[in-house]
Amino acid sequence: MDPGGSEQDPEMKEQYASVYVGREEDIKRSERITAVVHDREVVIFYHKGEFHAMDIRCYHSGGPLHLGEIEEFDGRACIVCPWHKYKITLETGEGLYQSIDPKDPSAKPMWCSKGIKQRIHTVTVDNGNIYVTLSNEPFKCDSDYYATGIFKNFAHMR
Ligand code: FES
Repeated sequence: MDPGGSEQDPEMKEQYASVYVGREEDIKRSERITAVVHDREVVIFYHKGEFHAMDIRCYHSGGPLHLGEIEEFDGRACIVCPWHKYKITLETGEGLYQSIDPKDPSAKPMWCSKGIKQRIHTVTVDNGNIYVTLSNEPFKCDSDYYATGIFKNFAHMR
């Protein structure tokens, strides 16, 4: 398999090589860390026995997801962006929202998905070490906007 067309382009191959981000025991203890993986800032969460990595800046307006709280909505664990409270599933990066049927205002609001908005990256555990491999999914993800180009530098926002 050649997910990034890497046979033709060694730089692409490098871009999608996994990167060590920390010790498993440390990340379990802190429950979240930030890391730079091939020039892309990501946050890694440890929640209920699983690791999840995603772009650190919220797809909505670039908010700092590493400072958000994790809550469950409709049975799905989400990071709640501290800026405008958007909810993003840890597992898939979907944006969740509540919707009410305008024809039935008394109905209970339903949780709905906007689709994948935040790019999710792969976390691998190997012998007590945690590695992140950047997503190479060939679709345009809203969080890409803040993860690349002139928006990618997060340091000034901390
Ligand atoms: Fe995250 Fe607006 S920046 S909800």
